[in-house]
Amino acid sequence: MSQLEVKVARIRQLTPVIREFTFEALDGRRLPGFSAGSHVVVEMPGAGRTLRNAYSLLSDPADTRHYRIAVRLQDASRGGSRYLHHELAVGDWLRLSMPHNLFPLSSLARHHVLVAGGIGITPFLAYIAELKARGESFELHYAYRGGLTDAYLGELRERLGDALHSYNSLAGERLDVTALFTGKPLGTHLYACGPQNLLDALHAQGQASGWPAERIHSEAFAAPEPGLPFVVELAQSGRRIEVPAELSLLEALEQAGVEVPSLCRGGVCGQCETRYLAGEVEHRDHFLSPDERAALLMPCVSRGGCDRPLLLDL
Ligand code: FES
Repeated sequence: MSQLEVKVARIRQLTPVIREFTFEALDGRRLPGFSAGSHVVVEMPGAGRTLRNAYSLLSDPADTRHYRIAVRLQDASRGGSRYLHHELAVGDWLRLSMPHNLFPLSSLARHHVLVAGGIGITPFLAYIAELKARGESFELHYAYRGGLTDAYLGELRERLGDALHSYNSLAGERLDVTALFTGKPLGTHLYACGPQNLLDALHAQGQASGWPAERIHSEAFAAPEPGLPFVVELAQSGRRIEVPAELSLLEALEQAGVEVPSLCRGGVCGQCETRYLAGEVEHRDHFLSPDERAALLMPCVSRGGCDRPLLLDL
């Protein structure tokens, strides 16, 4: 996987739990182009381990002098968001993956409804820049906790005016999921990014309202969560690899020099699909069907049990 080397040009603390980072190429050149909805995987070094989390690019795709991401400090962090909030400083350098887009804008839509929950606003900041440049019709629904996850509210009020609909849960304001699917122009596409329960509610309501599934697009928060340590065994070499609590199985394999393809690193794209032959699996992906889970797992998020090694067909 080719990588980009960048330096931290700017850090902004937007709310008590959200920080924004601006990256520039180490050699001062322009960074590779990307389309709205793209993410990069940020490599975060630590004591004896490297975490890799995917973050949406929120900067204007037309301006590749820099990339911007915003990160929420997670309560149950494996260390990635803690590292970015408490250790990374202006002038430090980092490795990023090339941008990749698993959440693109539809080129067929005649109107776009964007629905963000908290830090799920980030891909839509790039969307808005691209939609404005194209002169396309859109509306943004932004649900947040006032003073905590409303990182871009002031800026969006200025930029969007009536196209912004905001909902502060701490003031008792609630997003009306049913209304989002009512009275929209023909050819409307809906895009959602936020917690899984919001995405589930939107997909269920879309189906109940008779919207075709291909007009509803969603992206879940991608960072894997920590778990208990476990051991995997590679069937083809007999090697045993220990997976500590704060690393994903994918990261532990990478650290041991075992390459597994990956894109989202959050259990949604299917790229890292791996066959296993024995052992217990705690499946945490949003990709495999219950039948597929009998033989396959997603090592970017799923973990093994503690009792005996998980035998992978690698
Ligand atoms: S990398 Fe996307 S599901 Fe694992």
